[in-house]
Amino acid sequence: MRRTSVSLPTKHVRRDPYEKAGRYDAGHRDVGILEKLQAATMNQAQKTRWIKTTAIVVFLVFLFYYLSPKGADIYKGVSHSGGQSPSDATYGTDKCTKSYSKDKPIVQYVLMIDAGSTGSRIHVYKFNNCGSTPELEKEEFMMTDKSVGGLSKYKDDPIAAAKTLDALMEVAMKTVPDKLKGCSPVAVKATAGLRMIGAEASDKILETVRTHLEGYPFPVVSKEENGVAIMDGSDEGVYAWITTNYLLGKIGGPDQSPTAAIFDLGGGSTQIVFEPTFKGIPGGGMPEKMAPGDHKYDLAFGGREFELYQHSHLGYGLMAARNSIHLNLLQDIYSQEKTKGFLNKPILNPCINAGQSDMVKVKLGDGSPLGTGELELNMTGPATPAPAQCRALAERILAKDSDCKLSPCSFNGVHQPSLAKTFGKEDVYIFSFFFDRTKPLGMPDSFTLRELHDLTNSVCGGESAWDVFGTVPGALDELRDRGEYCLDLNFMIGLLHTGYDMPIDREVKIAKKIKGNELGWCLGASLPLLSKNSGWSCKVSQSY
Ligand SMILES: *[C@@H]1O[C@H](CO)[C@@H](O)[C@H](O)[C@H]1NC(C)=O
Repeated sequence: MRRTSVSLPTKHVRRDPYEKAGRYDAGHRDVGILEKLQAATMNQAQKTRWIKTTAIVVFLVFLFYYLSPKGADIYKGVSHSGGQSPSDATYGTDKCTKSYSKDKPIVQYVLMIDAGSTGSRIHVYKFNNCGSTPELEKEEFMMTDKSVGGLSKYKDDPIAAAKTLDALMEVAMKTVPDKLKGCSPVAVKATAGLRMIGAEASDKILETVRTHLEGYPFPVVSKEENGVAIMDGSDEGVYAWITTNYLLGKIGGPDQSPTAAIFDLGGGSTQIVFEPTFKGIPGGGMPEKMAPGDHKYDLAFGGREFELYQHSHLGYGLMAARNSIHLNLLQDIYSQEKTKGFLNKPILNPCINAGQSDMVKVKLGDGSPLGTGELELNMTGPATPAPAQCRALAERILAKDSDCKLSPCSFNGVHQPSLAKTFGKEDVYIFSFFFDRTKPLGMPDSFTLRELHDLTNSVCGGESAWDVFGTVPGALDELRDRGEYCLDLNFMIGLLHTGYDMPIDREVKIAKKIKGNELGWCLGASLPLLSKNSGWSCKVSQSY
């Protein structure tokens, strides 16, 4: 069990400038001649009112002049007087002129570097504190050139690895105003790729990256808070959950509607995170609370407590799943033929689109009777579509009958509260490869698993079944390019319906962005850095 705490203020003090005094407005009655005459001379009360009004108007004009950007030096002059809570910086946003809380600067930047296996990316987030919840106002994004690659590519040269981030830091240098740089934290979170090169090499790279970044004017988030580190699978999932629910306005703000579940499908692993509800389940037999264990993640965010279920299924990302499915098929054939000769001929594979063929690389596992290393094989789809056979292959790798130590289990012996019972109606968001394989074929933003199943069968059917895609721009090219489309979709429907045990009529939503912002873990990992004591402090005490 882990605990992450993010404190965003949730207390609301509404100040409505248009608030009515609630007095009866006397102005509506008919005014007689006498009264009009009376009104021509001001009485004492009216005089006082007139003076007050004039004073307020003069004050407002004065205020407006001084707060207007070109009218005064305040715009560029006032700054943080050290510390992490500059209170009266008025520059940087046109959303408001004053921070909601005097403990928070009006504008805050956070720099998040995503060190992935194929490349590194920077997100420069700009938040304003105009309201009780930090609002994401803008995001600058940049990734390293394909030829540059990820940090892990430089396992023997940590300095070269660190320098690949300079192109990204350039964006931060340009984006963040000079006066805010010293109070804009930077963090680097590496995903699985860096772990692959071993602890010694990856520690050296991360250490060098930290030192290198310290040469910039931005404070680097401390070691204790994992400022430059390899990220846990559980954190990755939970951060993505925070991103999604924050952008949906379900957390961190006044809205207390049920949170959305997220299902992420990467290349190597797949993540599930949701907030199950245990109360009021009819029929009994269900526990009142979530069972303890590694799957339970206690999150404090925006003044609320969330008890999340999360799991990262390593080896069940799309690329890993493809490999397992192909390996299973090869092993099946080998156990029938007893010789390896079949590897030199085209291999009939029910998971390749009917009538198509593809050259497929398959990594052989340790101790495989077929040998070691990687094979490149001609995989040919069936002449007559065989989606059910492919589905059976795809489901076999889920190992549904594995020993389940803590029931109920989803697949591969992993405990998971029942989605049907504890998450029956709330929103389900599926993204990454789920999005990349369904959107190009014309799927709407929301569909049921049954519709995904129907889509799968059409795709596996090959050219003769692809009339339905004729009206979707680019869809046919996409399918002809990728013989493994039938496999990909069969794995997805198998994973969601059979693996995670999601009812077939359940609606899911695909998304890449919400309100114009990229989904994924980066934003969710950045939000905690807006709070005090999140592992950094302003780098230089600035005084002007
Ligand atoms: C793979 O084998 C099929 C025959 O089953 C053949 O038509 C196709 O050209 C082969 N593909 C490649 C890339 O060799």
